Amino acid sequence: MHLERIEQIRRDFSRDIEEASTESALLEVKGQYVGKKRGVLQELMAALKTLPPEERRAFGQSVNALKQELEAGVEAALGRIRAARNAPPPVDVTLPGIRPDLGTIHPISRVRREIEEIFLSMGYAVASGPEVEDAYHNFEALNTPADHPSRDIQDTFYLEGDLLLRTQTSPVQIRTMEARKPPIKIIAPGRVFRRDDDVSHSPMFFQVEGLVVDEGITMAHLKGTLAHFYAKLFQKDVAVRFRPSYFPFTEPSAETDLSCVLCDGAGCPVCKRTGWLEVGGCGMVDPAVFGFVGIDPERYTGFAFGLGIDRMAMLKYGIDHIRHFCDNDLRFLEQF
Ligand code: DAH
Repeated sequence: MHLERIEQIRRDFSRDIEEASTESALLEVKGQYVGKKRGVLQELMAALKTLPPEERRAFGQSVNALKQELEAGVEAALGRIRAARNAPPPVDVTLPGIRPDLGTIHPISRVRREIEEIFLSMGYAVASGPEVEDAYHNFEALNTPADHPSRDIQDTFYLEGDLLLRTQTSPVQIRTMEARKPPIKIIAPGRVFRRDDDVSHSPMFFQVEGLVVDEGITMAHLKGTLAHFYAKLFQKDVAVRFRPSYFPFTEPSAETDLSCVLCDGAGCPVCKRTGWLEVGGCGMVDPAVFGFVGIDPERYTGFAFGLGIDRMAMLKYGIDHIRHFCDNDLRFLEQF
């Protein structure tokens, strides 16, 4: 009889505690069951006294167990409600996501790729050669013997033996002509190294070499090619002008001037008010160079050119110091 009542209380309690969703509702339930004055437990304690002595002990133990159970139930429910109050709000799936930072393509790589695209579209292949070069390919075979005064123009980082860090991409011309016979139509982008350091020079920088060798190649092909290339690269009408110059491996040789891409030739600080930018060297392959690689200069002619990728990127993006390219400053790099 009394044990049935205990079971009844258990069921009621678990229903009530389930329904109490706030702390005050829970405290109310607590009062109803284990409250000192009006709690249901009090009712059982009163009943205890009416039992015959031999039943009291067992019943008392049941009541005590129930009491502990109810108190634990209240504590657990309180804990749940408090934890829910401190828990973070449920996820709002309509909020925009957090975008992870993505890397960007370095401006030098961007411009190099653009240059490659333009020449690939003209039927050129992309060639490469070693950065640690030997003196033969970097100088000798480019018609620049050891006592040649132009070796002083390029302050070279020498390594062991006759190895050095290439000072120009021109040795790729030699390596290409050693490996293949004409017709040849290549560009060779890559790193070059010189003992040089100021706003527009860095000890490591990037060049692109160009070489075309075939029957009947003339300087007109060279000029037309460069004019087309620069118009594509800067995406505007540009003028190209040749100024006589000297390189050991070309004859005749020229400096390429490009109408200033910033002021369109009107004159500005970048072109030093001349309207022209000096953008690279070029010329007709010197027959002496053909001699080093075994190409018949009576049958073939060729043109070559070299230009600086860093310089192109500086002009294209209005960058004022070559050092920005290797500072790895995200505020700079993220702009591209
Ligand atoms: N190698 C030269 C330099 O680094 C640039 C150059 C000039 C390359 C004339 C050429 C060329 O292919 O024909 O200063």
